[in-house]
Amino acid sequence: MKVDGRHFRSIWLESDGWSVGAIDQRRLPHEFVIARMTNLADAAEAIRSMLVRGAPLIGATAAYGVALAMRADASDAALDLACKMLIATRPTAINLKWALDEMQSLLRPLSPSRRVEAAYKRANEIAEEDIAINREIGRHGLALIEAIAATKPGEPVNVLTHCNAGWLATVDFGTATAPIYLAHDRGVKIHVWVDETRPRNQGASLTAWELGHHGVPHTVIPDNTGGHLMQHRMVDLAIVGTDRVTASGDVCNKIGTYLKALAAHDNGVPFYVALPSPTIDFSIDDGIRQIPIEQRSADEVTTMTGRTADGRIEAVRVVPAGSPVANYAFDVTPARLVSGLITERGVLRAERAALARAFPDRA
Ligand code: MRU
Repeated sequence: MKVDGRHFRSIWLESDGWSVGAIDQRRLPHEFVIARMTNLADAAEAIRSMLVRGAPLIGATAAYGVALAMRADASDAALDLACKMLIATRPTAINLKWALDEMQSLLRPLSPSRRVEAAYKRANEIAEEDIAINREIGRHGLALIEAIAATKPGEPVNVLTHCNAGWLATVDFGTATAPIYLAHDRGVKIHVWVDETRPRNQGASLTAWELGHHGVPHTVIPDNTGGHLMQHRMVDLAIVGTDRVTASGDVCNKIGTYLKALAAHDNGVPFYVALPSPTIDFSIDDGIRQIPIEQRSADEVTTMTGRTADGRIEAVRVVPAGSPVANYAFDVTPARLVSGLITERGVLRAERAALARAFPDRA
């Protein structure tokens, strides 16, 4: 997507043919900074520190991390170490494991002399595949938006989204945002309610930044506002992303998603989840009991970072010193609250049979 008129992806292979560039998402929306990864440790730290984040982008970064590791040492031991380091960075998004499994199953049978080239090739393919998948998600999701637009001519379709499942969370286009960008580009009147998404504010800092750069009308709302808007018929549909979907259609996503799904259910608002197939974990059924939920640093809750009136970027404390805090990064929305899963193979019911039928190769 475009930033000030220039096309960017969230991650790319640099023109030197081996190092990896990425937008430093910790600095947005205040500063646009490009980071360069030159080794395995850089890639692992980029995921851990959330320089890059969002399930599909975490997967792509891990694949490039393996390529960087192979460039330094293509032995079996180095491959083992790379996968061990990368898998330990963040526990919830299954795309990380998916990408590492892809890289390992390709590289393990090859002799070390062939691994570097093969690793870069597969990492580039994973990035390209993500873009192609998101285009398809956009196409299938567009039909949902157009159907609502047809019922309210001249008025905008109001979409609520949570966290950032935009192009910054993927390699390009985004998952939840792909139908939104496509609708906007095709002239469908659309407006997005952007949940701020405390504690890290991915909605306020990243989704709002993205939508603004693409000219999509949007309004940032405190996280607790969605229910009120739904009661007043101000939300036509919700579309969120996800970090892991179980074989039976339970959806794990950024903390607070479940509460939006409950409010949507209570108010008859369609609640859709957009996902690429690498986000499906066919090895588990019960999202609430089986998905590991990342718990992050207390600092994310006790402080907020922003730009001061005189232009400095500063963190300020918003919780009394000494008050304990909890910081669960994700929650699980049971399949029964999900109206549909927008995938690259169509909009599916959130249930085992539909997922297995659409993705027999994975199931
Ligand atoms: O902690 P984050 O910022 O990595 O969490 C991201 C989300 O929860 C996204 O909504 C999810 O990864 C889907 S991204 C297409």
